Amino acid sequence: MSNIDIVIMAAGKGTRMRSRIPKVLQALAGRALLQHVLDTAAQLSARKAVVITGHGADEVEAACVRNRGPAADFALQFVRQEPQLGTGHAVQQAVPALEDDGIVVVLSGDVPLTQADTLFHLIAASSGNKLALLTLEQSNPAGYGRIVRQGGNANGAVQAIVEHKDATEAQRLITEIYSGIMAVPALQLKRWLARLDNKNAQGEYYLTDIVKFAVADGVPVVAYKITDAVQVAGVNSPVQLAELERAFQLRQAHRLMEEGVRLADPARIDVRGDLSCAHDVSIDVNCVFSGQVTLGEGVSIGANCVISNAVIDAGAVIHPFTHIDGEALGVTVGAGALIGPFARLRPGARLGEEVHIGNFVEVKNSTLAKGAKANHLAYLGDATVGERVNYGAGSITANYDGANKHRTVIEADVHVGSNCVLVAPVTLGAGGTVGGGSTITKDTPAGALSVARGKQLSIANWARPKKAAK
Ligand code: UD1
Ligand code: CA
Repeated sequence: MSNIDIVIMAAGKGTRMRSRIPKVLQALAGRALLQHVLDTAAQLSARKAVVITGHGADEVEAACVRNRGPAADFALQFVRQEPQLGTGHAVQQAVPALEDDGIVVVLSGDVPLTQADTLFHLIAASSGNKLALLTLEQSNPAGYGRIVRQGGNANGAVQAIVEHKDATEAQRLITEIYSGIMAVPALQLKRWLARLDNKNAQGEYYLTDIVKFAVADGVPVVAYKITDAVQVAGVNSPVQLAELERAFQLRQAHRLMEEGVRLADPARIDVRGDLSCAHDVSIDVNCVFSGQVTLGEGVSIGANCVISNAVIDAGAVIHPFTHIDGEALGVTVGAGALIGPFARLRPGARLGEEVHIGNFVEVKNSTLAKGAKANHLAYLGDATVGERVNYGAGSITANYDGANKHRTVIEADVHVGSNCVLVAPVTLGAGGTVGGGSTITKDTPAGALSVARGKQLSIANWARPKKAAK
């Protein structure tokens, strides 16, 4: 067990989001901002994460507990900060939860994209006895705390962080800024926090004031400077949230391409979860993947598909505008299957090899064996469909009697004509044929033609009614 303890500040209101949802619960790539931070903490093998909550505390804490992933083996603790009197005051609330032997990494719940290796470097820079600050050069540093160095020299020792509102004109010219992230030995941190005051331009307790205490105590202050601004970018507004979403998606797209995936346009794919791809997968523009999606070798995804919680086996082709949503049950698509365009696969759709599902066909909680086809305008719900079945255009399983769902079994090699209603529970025997327009309410024998519709009648020389002459 490491001695890394994470403190995540998440008490702020986030007024500029103009949202009822607490800022740290706003979603980036389908996960709450705070969840990204907690997932990074899990990668650090942290001993403990202390989340400081305030605005929307109940909601924020409940979401953290609910979304706790299996990777998060650290202890999770919440402390409340009410009212919010500044970042130093926030971390003061965590003091009772911090053990003296820890290295404390201070993070913000609204800075989602810091990478674990960056934090490992920062922790290494602190090396158990120094105050390590994550810093960055910003061409437009307005609003940030400035890193004040000895002699104003880029290599001079760090002396203080001066907040923008407290900075002199000369200090405002400094372009090295504090990211809001630090690593600090717990014992020292506690001593310095006890000395904070709020005599500054904002009347807040600034965490950043601990730098001058460290200098006064002769504790070395080191800056670990990175160049990747996205890693320390915070979210304060919908515009910033969208910017970070795009940055994150572009990174994922590049990672996929490095793994060999062919993306028609890396700027037009969204992955809100885990997408894992075998060799020679190609993905056309404007596709959205969420939850857990696995694409087998050579799978091709057409433009404008939305795919969630699904496993698609080798060589399957998903034509444009297909919607696949496995939710909790999942969807599986067999090797070499052809799906869409405009198909809809819902939870529990299990399609075997070389199944064809065409336009405007909906499949829910149904198993289709190898080579079964439903090519046009059809519904298969709660059905078990055998090999090579051909399911005609406009046919549906009437699986719901208003109270209960029932199964339809269509055995191998059955042909169901167009516009049939199969009233479940019902079984169509192997190799049988159902005439178009039939409403089937009884089981059909194997090999037979079954027809259930009004007999066609023709009346010869039929004279249509005429209007009476005036
Ligand atoms: C802080 C730093 C500044 C740095 C900047 C980087 C201080 C005093 N200043 O500025 O040097 O350049 O981050 O973005 O630390 N929070 C609480 N309780 C509070 C106040 C804030 O939980 O009482 C949380 C916020 O929700 C947020 C984080 O702390 O997640 C940072 O607060 P924010 O107001 O954004 O920091 P700044 O004042 O902008
Ligand atoms: Ca502030």
